[in-house]
Amino acid sequence: MNHTPVLYQEALDWLAIRPGGVYVDATLGGAGHTRGILERGGQVIAFDQDPQAIARAQALNLPHLTLVQANFRELVPELNKRGISQVDGLLADLGVSSFHFDDASRGFSYQQEGPLDMRMGQGELTAQEVVNTYPEEALAEILFRYGEEPRARRIARFIVENRPIHTTTQLAEVVRRATGFRQAGHPARKSFQALRIYVNDELGALEQLLRSAEAVLRKGGRLVIISFHSLEDRLVKHFLRESAVLQPLTKKPIVPSETEQRENPRARSAKMRVAERVDGGKA
Ligand SMILES: C[S@@+](CC[C@H](N)C(=O)[O-])C[C@H]1O[C@@H](n2cnc3c(N)ncnc32)[C@H](O)[C@@H]1O
Repeated sequence: MNHTPVLYQEALDWLAIRPGGVYVDATLGGAGHTRGILERGGQVIAFDQDPQAIARAQALNLPHLTLVQANFRELVPELNKRGISQVDGLLADLGVSSFHFDDASRGFSYQQEGPLDMRMGQGELTAQEVVNTYPEEALAEILFRYGEEPRARRIARFIVENRPIHTTTQLAEVVRRATGFRQAGHPARKSFQALRIYVNDELGALEQLLRSAEAVLRKGGRLVIISFHSLEDRLVKHFLRESAVLQPLTKKPIVPSETEQRENPRARSAKMRVAERVDGGKA
């Protein structure tokens, strides 16, 4: 299945693209937003830590597009390597893409059998290692902090009692036994989210990205961040509030229309925040 870009028009409109401007898409994925920026006349430097996302985009042979296979933590040095010190806009559409969920071998889906991997890039730490070697206390902490899972302790105990656990569906079944079917959605949703965020250090990378935006956006340049859970949205909101040079342009986050939420289930939890780089203090 293809990846449908979330908040597509809204993200492009808020980026205020000017022809010939240089834009960073920190999360290339299926290249949906990147294509939109190119169609509006922008040049794009697109990052993805996933070699498969880069390879798919390479095959499209799009003009005015530079592809960088790297974690967006490395944004500033990677731009500097290419002689770029300032950009006109920066977009990040966080999390995993539909390609990741659809490929069972990546281990992101609790509905399809796959190895417990969950790495978006080529890092060393896998979910397999966390699930099978971390002490119960540490597991509970991860599930609670990154999944906001109220039954974190009980799930951690069940995991430890049932080790070794090798596949996604085995883990999903252990979590289901620990929690029952009482909560909304799949009982393993929060635990899988927690492990994925931990394995990829997603919050650490996001914070670094926000710092990079302060450093590389030219005056008047826009930052657009689309996030998919409250931990990310909170981090972005607080960062923008504290930043000396990024002025938030909307008080409340922008959310997808009802139509978009109906047509694309992935859009339901999306929140978009926008800021502009200012100089000499915020208003
Ligand atoms: C939600 S998808 C982006 C979809 C894209 N906007 C589109 O329209 O197709 C997120 C992508 O960002 C990548 N990604 C997530 N975190 C990253 C990071 N820290 N550094 C680089 N790429 C990252 C993932 O590998 C994934 O391909």
